[in-house]
Amino acid sequence: MMRRGLLAAALTIAPLTDCQGAQSTFDPAGVEAERVLNLFWIMLAGGTAIWIVVIGASYYAARGKSGPYSDRSGIRLIIWGGCVFPTVVLAGLLWWGLTMMQELRRAADGPTIAVSAERFWWRVAYAVDGEPGVIRNLPRGGIPSANEIWIPLGKRTEILLSSPDVIHSFWVPPLAGKMDAIPGRVNRLVLEPTRPGVFNGVCAEYCGTAHTYMGFRVVVVSEAVFEAYVRSQALPAAKTEGSGARLFVQNGCAACHTVRGTAADGDVGPDLTHVASRRTIAAGVLPTTVENLAAFIRSTEHLKPGVEMPAFGMLPDEEITAIAQWLGTLE
Ligand code: CUA
Repeated sequence: MMRRGLLAAALTIAPLTDCQGAQSTFDPAGVEAERVLNLFWIMLAGGTAIWIVVIGASYYAARGKSGPYSDRSGIRLIIWGGCVFPTVVLAGLLWWGLTMMQELRRAADGPTIAVSAERFWWRVAYAVDGEPGVIRNLPRGGIPSANEIWIPLGKRTEILLSSPDVIHSFWVPPLAGKMDAIPGRVNRLVLEPTRPGVFNGVCAEYCGTAHTYMGFRVVVVSEAVFEAYVRSQALPAAKTEGSGARLFVQNGCAACHTVRGTAADGDVGPDLTHVASRRTIAAGVLPTTVENLAAFIRSTEHLKPGVEMPAFGMLPDEEITAIAQWLGTLE
């Protein structure tokens, strides 16, 4: 019995010891995530206290001395235990939650980044001089990127969220709570990081077969590095000539992908102008390497079940390698 209790305790504690890291709500790196974690601990403490009282009362009722109660002590128990206690506890928690909401609705004082959640990746656009164009229902037409969002430390960055297809949910557990990306409307989320780092984001609303493969990275850097990064993302591709670039256009990749500086100007899939500067390809599925780029082009469905991009395994291996090698130079 004792051993079983220890095993149960070990099983409960084991996951908690692994709560550090790029995707943990227990290791906050943002103001909102810290507040959410505080709320969790307070709710947990309140819930534990109430649980102990209820279990104690049940134990007393089952095992305690039995005897007659007066009407007065019965009414007193109902008033204090049934009305006053829950009203005070719930009003306290409500007050705490409402004051927290007000703090979390603070206006942004940093850059604006539009994020469109698509099946099954994240379209990103950095606003230029507060003058974003309009594509679909999101203010975009800024500097395009995908699946990786850089934000400056010490600023409150505004993320404008929408979707052209179904409801998705934008969630970077160490930075903030979830926010839905809903077709036909724009939701805003303010990210205020408290330390630099690379954090994992996920789609937190089931959106189709590849929902689990809809990840992204958020990179928190100093303001100067952020500005240099956005400037570099605004430039056209580093290399626009060669067999890889030619084959990319010839084989139809250009119908869906843009590589600025070349004839590729498709708007269906991610902008690949600086694909090699991102940490992952296929929305967080694989680290960015030439081998992985080639493997993904050859067999998309195998690496990301449910992906919308067709596989190009019918192309000769040399052509796939040439395309992957060229994409690998686009930093
Ligand atoms: Cu997008 Cu789930």
